[in-house]
Amino acid sequence: MRVNVINWAIVGTGDISRQVASDFALVAGAKVVAVVSRSRQRAQDFAEYCGADRGYEMDALLNDEAVDAVYLGTPHATHCALAVRCLEADKHVLVEKPLGVDKAEVRKVEVAAAAAGRFAMEAMWMKFNPAYRQLITEIRAGVIGEVASVRASFGIPFPKDSGSRWSAELRGSTLLDQGIYPVTLALDVLGQPETIHAAGRVRVDGVDLGEHMTLEYAGGRFAQLAASMTEFVDPTASISGTRGWIQVPFPFWATSGYTVWGGPDLFSPRTLSIPMDGNGYPPMLTAACDAIGRGLQEHPVHPWSDIHRVFDVLDRIRNQLIPGSA
Ligand SMILES: NC(=O)c1ccc[n+]([C@@H]2O[C@H](COP(=O)([O-])OP(=O)(O)OC[C@H]3O[C@@H](n4cnc5c(N)ncnc54)[C@H](OP(=O)(O)O)[C@@H]3O)[C@@H](O)[C@H]2O)c1
Repeated sequence: MRVNVINWAIVGTGDISRQVASDFALVAGAKVVAVVSRSRQRAQDFAEYCGADRGYEMDALLNDEAVDAVYLGTPHATHCALAVRCLEADKHVLVEKPLGVDKAEVRKVEVAAAAAGRFAMEAMWMKFNPAYRQLITEIRAGVIGEVASVRASFGIPFPKDSGSRWSAELRGSTLLDQGIYPVTLALDVLGQPETIHAAGRVRVDGVDLGEHMTLEYAGGRFAQLAASMTEFVDPTASISGTRGWIQVPFPFWATSGYTVWGGPDLFSPRTLSIPMDGNGYPPMLTAACDAIGRGLQEHPVHPWSDIHRVFDVLDRIRNQLIPGSA
């Protein structure tokens, strides 16, 4: 059955939910009808902020038949269990990245989605960004020849506040929070690596503060990636090939363009500019609504196979990081 407008609930009333809520307002096929918080008052305040009819706690959402789909904007450690609960209540889910804390959690959500016959996707908005999609299209069409290497990092010193980023209990992790973007880019461009070398700084309680990793491929191709939440690591990306290279400026995970060097005149680069809508989430939200409306259970731009590939690499990186090294 084709559904024209998808009724959404937003779970969690933090910063990311605030940004996504204002982008939902730009999406014709979506209406935010409910907000969920651990505090009914916060839920109601946030509902007022985003024009939703009601604010309540999780149990009320699970019994609310008017909600078709749920956006989860809560800490990493909660994603898998909350997604499974929503799927078991027959809701479609869009789960903030990372979809889970490891491969096993991703698999649990996939199994629950299959059992419920509902749409589920990780909110990997970077892959829906029009400039990023054009970048990948051009690379695959050979604009820089055969890709030989990728360099990408997301290092930004975040304030040491009480947010889940710094909490071991809530599975704070710069690899899961920031590192997932450079890893996703490398896999989109080069595919699954043969070997991985990773090192980083991990607190004794297991929260990783920063890491750098080299992904190695057949034929000497490689990706050099880094993430940090305690200092800057040039938050840009570049992709190099046999006929040229591309620079993606800060913030590469939410870019509105890139520059291509290559061809007959290396000193005449070509810059592409595609401005982002809102805070950058409308293309992903539109795609999720469209997929749900068409009865799809995964989205071809970020299907389960891609999510598994990224978590395979994230798990292999994490296994090389040593707690107590920070
Ligand atoms: N796509 C992006 O651009 C982007 C950007 C930033 C973050 N993120 C992702 O978004 C997620 C949330 O990040 P954040 O920094 O916004 O987290 P956060 O501020 O620590 O938490 C977000 C909200 O989740 C709820 N929450 C907190 N602890 C909870 C718990 N134990 N159980 C259930 N709900 C809880 C709270 O809302 P209530 O108090 O109302 O329950 C809180 O305001 C993370 O997975 C992160 O990776 C994505």
